Amino acid sequence: MKILAIETSCDETAISILEATGGLDAPAFSILSQVISSQIDMHREWGGVVPNIAKREHQKLLVPVLLEALTKAEIKQTPLGTMPYIKEILHREEILLQNIENSIASLGIPEIDYIAVTAGPGLEPALWVGINFARALGELWQKPVIGINHMEGHIMSPLLRGNTISFPAVALLISGGHTELIQLNDWHSYTLLGMTRDDAIGEAFDKVARMLDLPYPGGPEISKLALRGNKSDISLPRPMINSDNLDFSFSGLKTAVKYYVNDHSLLSEQDKCDISLAFEEAATEVIISKTKRALEQSNAKTLIVGGGVIANTRIRTALEHLIAGEFSDVTLLIPSLSHCGDNASMIAAAAYIRIEKGSAGSPLEAHGSMMLTN
Ligand code: KG4
Ligand code: ZN
Repeated sequence: MKILAIETSCDETAISILEATGGLDAPAFSILSQVISSQIDMHREWGGVVPNIAKREHQKLLVPVLLEALTKAEIKQTPLGTMPYIKEILHREEILLQNIENSIASLGIPEIDYIAVTAGPGLEPALWVGINFARALGELWQKPVIGINHMEGHIMSPLLRGNTISFPAVALLISGGHTELIQLNDWHSYTLLGMTRDDAIGEAFDKVARMLDLPYPGGPEISKLALRGNKSDISLPRPMINSDNLDFSFSGLKTAVKYYVNDHSLLSEQDKCDISLAFEEAATEVIISKTKRALEQSNAKTLIVGGGVIANTRIRTALEHLIAGEFSDVTLLIPSLSHCGDNASMIAAAAYIRIEKGSAGSPLEAHGSMMLTN
């Protein structure tokens, strides 16, 4: 079956078209097109994502991104005939109408089976643009529209490179908004093992980067500097590393960096590299320690890692070492780099699993449950 998926939960306007086969036993995906239009330049000057700017950009970008995704996928189309109400629908949903008659009308109805859309969690104003756009297309093309949880998308993202999940599995989700350890006993059977009590790990990377006058998003910048860092006497805490649970805390680590920066007013380029390294090492140690405990306690056969922070080489390598050294029976599933950050292919993959399992809900149903639900 063919699924067109839309993702607008944060600062990426993304649409993918996938062909999915194999069912639950051997899900396989062919990505016909994946278009991601990043708004990072718009948000950079504010030092972070501004929800209303994200909303406005999604409204502007969705139509061009859709056209590009449809063209790249070379999907067959059947004539649309007249377009009695697309203009009204898009007006109602505040999608900008530049060239809409010429563009969408000339395309016809694409031969897809479903439309999937991220229903949450994410920035409310940004999410609604995508949800309403998906519903408008659903009405126009007469296709079913499915709502997908963004975090479930990250969990399913390794499926895009041909991996399968053996249960029980543990998912480690590390992104700008989330730091969670989740147990999966089966498809869609989730137990939250632990989560951050304050900042998400990606948020901590972004905030530390700001302290060092590095641009947003900070994660990639810190990683780059850390590569040139030397071991120093900078001593940073490993918050909650010895606590008797699987929760995280990154606010204390971030604050320790802040104190260090405040105490050393003239930081050289090398100082910044050394601080980046010390911060990355502290954050990595906490992630590894908690993940290790989660794997031990759940007897997991698979460790899935998702979210933008897995692009970090130190964290990635440390997880690979953990599995190779201490959990040789566990399969580590990491998405390819192009699917680590936010994208719509992972939303389509998650939708396929929901469709095959018979548990797909509408965007409005899915929007109500911001946490992962069974
Ligand atoms: O999953 P994602 O694209 O968006 C959501 O938050 O849902 O993750 C974005 C986060 C940002 O905080 C960014 O700084 C972080 O991922 N990130 C990294 C790296 N690349 C992106 N953090 C550490 N190292 C990286 N190489
Ligand atoms: Zn994300």
